[in-house]
Amino acid sequence: MKRAKITIIGAGNVGATCAHWAAGRELGDIVLLDIVEGMPQGKALDLAEAAPVEGYDARIIGTNSYDDTANSDIVIITSGIARKPGMSRDQLLETNTKIVAEVAAKAAAASPDSVLIVVSNPLDAMVYTAWKVSGFPPHRVVGQAGVLDVARYCSFIAAEIGCSVKDVSALLMGGHGDDMVPLPRYTTISGIPVTQFISPTRLEEIVVRARNGGAEIVNLLKSGSAYYAPSSATISMAESIIRDQKRIMPCAAYCGKEYGVGGFFVGVPCILGKGGVEKVVEVELEGKEREMFNSSVGHVKDLVATANKFLPA
Ligand code: LAC
Repeated sequence: MKRAKITIIGAGNVGATCAHWAAGRELGDIVLLDIVEGMPQGKALDLAEAAPVEGYDARIIGTNSYDDTANSDIVIITSGIARKPGMSRDQLLETNTKIVAEVAAKAAAASPDSVLIVVSNPLDAMVYTAWKVSGFPPHRVVGQAGVLDVARYCSFIAAEIGCSVKDVSALLMGGHGDDMVPLPRYTTISGIPVTQFISPTRLEEIVVRARNGGAEIVNLLKSGSAYYAPSSATISMAESIIRDQKRIMPCAAYCGKEYGVGGFFVGVPCILGKGGVEKVVEVELEGKEREMFNSSVGHVKDLVATANKFLPA
């Protein structure tokens, strides 16, 4: 079988940690790109030198040139500035729209058949930006947010119950973090509804903590934002695509008629396989859930309208 080629744009904490998880899972050969000279080369070399110890088989290179990224199967976009304490993801909009528009256009031109996974914030608008400039069909552009938000939520639930994280299964929808739509009805522990373990009031507190999960870490780190869990979430999406696992994961996917969204990328469960987003799964939403989802979609639309102003004509 042909080895997959994975390009990671941006060799900061998120990009480098993506390379780390991808190498560990032997997902394929890895190209780490950044505009800073030497840095991606140094990190890639360091990671390659760990391979004999860890026993992973992957060619890992660092570069400043898009030529080295040519014909990748997956391109992960992590470029952009991160939040500082007290900042919202939306405050990154102008700077990161310009950065993501530039890198996505170059990466898409070098790898015209790839699937783009966008991680930069504010996520929902950055996926739209990458899609716009790439000219790709929407199923080959997807954003990582839901897998991270669900992972945070599941880790808190497992800690609360004192059970294995492996047995917690949950679904969240809507925008990243602040706009997250929790769905306790779809949260189970080995098939048992979460409400049999945790009271509604306590569960609500856990939802709030998951929603603010990114800010909790920004406040602790004081400079920069989370990267272990965001990267791990991203690489699990890449794995589902590369290995055609067809996992159902909450991702920022293009919704046309789906959920009545009308042509935007929002957090919904989807099947990820060889072709990228192979299907958006439409689950039933009840009154309050639908209201929250609609308000989250409204926020995404506002953000995209603002992001569009910063796009090259
Ligand atoms: C977070 C940032 C990366 O949620 O969005 O940690």
